Amino acid sequence: MQRHLISAADLTRDDAVLVLDTAEEMSRVADRPIKKLPTLRGRTVVNLFFEDSTRTRISFEAAEKRLSADVINFTAKGSSVSKGESLKDTAQTLEAMGVDAVVIRHHASGAPYRLANSGWIDAAVINAGDGTHQHPTQALLDAFTMRRRLVGRDAGLGQDLTGRRITIVGDVLHSRVARSNVDLLHTLGADVVLVAPPTLLPVGVGSWPCEVAYDLDGVLPKSDAVMMLRVQRERMNAAFFPTEREYARRYGLNGDRMAKMPEHAVVMHPGPMVRGMEITAEVADSDRCTVVEQVSNGVSIRMAVLYLLLGGNEPAAPHTRPASHPAGETAAHTPDAAEEK
Ligand code: NCD
Repeated sequence: MQRHLISAADLTRDDAVLVLDTAEEMSRVADRPIKKLPTLRGRTVVNLFFEDSTRTRISFEAAEKRLSADVINFTAKGSSVSKGESLKDTAQTLEAMGVDAVVIRHHASGAPYRLANSGWIDAAVINAGDGTHQHPTQALLDAFTMRRRLVGRDAGLGQDLTGRRITIVGDVLHSRVARSNVDLLHTLGADVVLVAPPTLLPVGVGSWPCEVAYDLDGVLPKSDAVMMLRVQRERMNAAFFPTEREYARRYGLNGDRMAKMPEHAVVMHPGPMVRGMEITAEVADSDRCTVVEQVSNGVSIRMAVLYLLLGGNEPAAPHTRPASHPAGETAAHTPDAAEEK
């Protein structure tokens, strides 16, 4: 693993499978009465959010706290950024406070890369979404959800997604989730198809490691997972489709369309969903929709990423049974998931 997590494209197949396997271990912590590990005790993590977020921000904070890190939350609104302070000055302030990791979400594509490579700061940098560019922990939590659902929780350990057919539908143009997923799913051996109106596909999509289609109904029967994207109005400066009704009719997922998917196939959404637009309430609330599961998996993935970037060689989840494993023990072995049950 590299020292920072800026792009899903930076992860090798082995890195990605290691994160997914570590997240499986971390998810067992959520099943315990006390959902906490001492792994990052004494480490400080700053959540630096320059753009709105619900799931990602709360999920990172939950992950950091479950690993016992000291957490500082920074939102641009109400900070000196509103007074015109630059990213550099903000970074130097954090450096002076001695932070170990910075989780950054920024409206400008490239801001996390700049932070990691500028020399302004020594901390590990984790990209929590930058402009329309990347959102690597989202792609990891999506891959984790697919592996669990399509391969199996235990059967999936050590496995990638070779041969699985994933369809991503909607506003690809403005979606960092789509970009990160295409990169990571390709690395993990999956076959990806993008379905979108031509106006919502980026220039150069032909060189991405995926296929492009325009007929959703034709692709659904050949999909193991269908990921719906929100139409990102806040990033739009023009009319990209005639009306919302027209968009929903051609690219929205409703009950009839979902029935065309194979029985085992799942519906995914990174959230926030706009019910009635890209997805109907019927589909969003169905058993086949993993949106809530994706959120809980997000905490495990972020714990895994923080642990792998900051945790060093300590075991991720030390055994807690007092008889065989006294408190504070840091034996140099990887915890055996089977023993944790
Ligand atoms: C996405 C994002 O912010 O990129 N949401 C998320 O992180 N769960 C997608 C979106 O906003 O539509």
